[in-house]
Amino acid sequence: MTDRIPLLIDTDPGVDDALALLMAFNDPRHELVGLTIAAGNVGLKHTVANALKLCEVAGVDVPVFAGADAPLLHPSPDAGYVHGQDGFGDVGYEAAKRKVEAEHAALAIIRLSHEHAGKLLLVALGPLTNVALALKLDPTLPQRIARLVVMGGAVTCQGNITPAAEFNIYFDPEAAHIVFEAFEHLDLADWEAVVAHGLLHDRVVGWFKTDSARGQFYERISEKTRMWSIDRRGDHWHAADALAMAFALEPEGALDVQSRPVSIELDGTHSRGATVVDWRRQEGKPDKAAILMKYDQQRFENLIQAALSASPA
Ligand code: RIB
Ligand code: CA
Repeated sequence: MTDRIPLLIDTDPGVDDALALLMAFNDPRHELVGLTIAAGNVGLKHTVANALKLCEVAGVDVPVFAGADAPLLHPSPDAGYVHGQDGFGDVGYEAAKRKVEAEHAALAIIRLSHEHAGKLLLVALGPLTNVALALKLDPTLPQRIARLVVMGGAVTCQGNITPAAEFNIYFDPEAAHIVFEAFEHLDLADWEAVVAHGLLHDRVVGWFKTDSARGQFYERISEKTRMWSIDRRGDHWHAADALAMAFALEPEGALDVQSRPVSIELDGTHSRGATVVDWRRQEGKPDKAAILMKYDQQRFENLIQAALSASPA
């Protein structure tokens, strides 16, 4: 097998984060070198505990690094109403035996960027606070990152928190601004792409018919958010981070990607946290963001189904 791609995931687990992580755990082409944990869906105490628990259930031994416990500047509400107050469906799982690393997530991002300089795939599935902190500590970070994939934004103002803004960006717009300005290129899976690649609930429950401990645990922790989704959004479930991870792990599955300049709005009663896309390139800025418009739906669903039925290697 050719050299595996080193993969670092910054995440705020969260139920859809967990599905994305299970997909990463099951990908033979990537070597997971760390999980850096952000506050976002729920508080940092829970997101760290959830990451450690998922690794234990999956039988995956990867270092977990705790990061920032709040946005850079302004406090922001979490998404416990979607994921459960503990971020994993409030199922009351027994805490993992493994412990979080002593190193801060921002420092781990910098260190791992050096250890895997020029090869590291960085996938950001939560608010960008940790990545922004790493950039403030070391502005040369982007030079060593081979590829950055971000789940975030709403490219035509159809957000999931406000009309203008999606959760990851809305939670810490200042961090998103720092990251979007610092990287010359990033791949973006926004909320609108997630909505366009919904998963039929009736099909999802069929994927749980597996003797995999991973699939069984995921069925438990996802039940609350799936029921919430049926109640609020109908027949399809929107696993945002899973789409971003499919784009990250198998970019060849992307059927339409549009590159454009994207700016983050920091002010405005109605607009804070917006990902403002210059669709007509009026400002003459570089096309920094490769925006996922269409992904191979069958490939996406196959990746999820395989992740849920996988067992430890
Ligand atoms: O808007 C969806 C994003 O916000 C996902 O990453 C979800 O986990 C939450 O973090
Ligand atoms: Ca997330």
